[in-house]
Amino acid sequence: MLVNPNNQALEAGKVTSELEREVVAELAAMFGLATHLGHLTSSGTIANLEALYVARELHPGRGVAFSQDAHYTHARMCGLLGVAGTAVPADAAGRIDLDALDRVLAGGTTGTVVATAGTTGLGAIDPVHDVLAVARRRGVRVHVDAAYGGFYTLLAGAGGRAGLDPRPWRAIAECDSVVVDPHKHGLQPYGCGAVLFADPSVGRFYTHDSPYTYFTSSELHLGEISLECSRAGAAAAALWLTLRLLPLTPDGLGQVLAACRSAAIGWADLLRSSDRLRLYQEPDLDIVTYFPLTTPASLAEIDRACSRILSDGMNDPERPVFLSTLTVADDALTRRHADVTADRDSARILRSALMKPESGTHVRWLHTRLEELAG
Ligand SMILES: Cc1ncc(COP(=O)(O)O)c(C=O)c1O
Repeated sequence: MLVNPNNQALEAGKVTSELEREVVAELAAMFGLATHLGHLTSSGTIANLEALYVARELHPGRGVAFSQDAHYTHARMCGLLGVAGTAVPADAAGRIDLDALDRVLAGGTTGTVVATAGTTGLGAIDPVHDVLAVARRRGVRVHVDAAYGGFYTLLAGAGGRAGLDPRPWRAIAECDSVVVDPHKHGLQPYGCGAVLFADPSVGRFYTHDSPYTYFTSSELHLGEISLECSRAGAAAAALWLTLRLLPLTPDGLGQVLAACRSAAIGWADLLRSSDRLRLYQEPDLDIVTYFPLTTPASLAEIDRACSRILSDGMNDPERPVFLSTLTVADDALTRRHADVTADRDSARILRSALMKPESGTHVRWLHTRLEELAG
């Protein structure tokens, strides 16, 4: 950071551009991409913007479909790009509904579908393999937003309770683009996202005049394949070093992911046997969602109780507990918990993302404290 290299031009980030190429190749190998073109970005938002930009250039006039549970960035960036964005309903586990997706794609106006491997709210994994099959039948491209979950590819097919169904993760190799955020499970400081394309020829959509920069070599400069201009070489160096210590293997960074996943499984076990808190749904990854048992069991009461726990917990000067909330629609809650009365259209529930390998050591304390707060 003191040297402040800029990975826009090879001359401005001599070493760090090399490091960036290496880490991007390692990410591509983790996803099993046979060929790739990609780069680091300042965030998952920018990485997804680039993927949707390329989607628009490849299928002008056609739109983008994504699950209603996809990150809000997709609808927003479709607006920015002037592309029609269609939200597809999610199923009872928070994954994109395949029949509904097929109906949308049958209309013929969609050029790209976004599958999310680890939704922000629930950590749900869209069945990328099935999405791919539906999309290919309809001549539609597939972009995978694995900003949150991407590094969980390392646990695909692993044994034990922390292991994951390999099919969605292995299917990423056949998709057209993928985004992953090293500043989430890659242990990097913000901002370090990444976008990878399977077809290196999409680099043509980045062609631009650069009258101010000094590309003295004919080699590909990273600034020529990025929508951002200046980018921190320091981010590439930090990620490169991290991957030397924790390579992208099940025994390397995979162990970090396994610890996060085990923490979530452990907390879900505690929640399942609690008489004060209820698990909202089984965690697919490391995000645990839950709500207090209330009388009556209604959306209004659950929302009120969650809001009270949030404020009492976060503002307790002695034993604060930091939580996030997730707003869920009435039908989403009642299809998972049929005994809850839908007396309003949505309610906030509680959400904890156990994104650090140390999380497991705090789970029991957190659970007990939240049971106390639930009263
Ligand atoms: C699935 C998903 N996509 C995109 C984003 C946006 O990424 P960023 O916050 O790095 O801009 C997030 C962030 O939480 C995410 O979880």
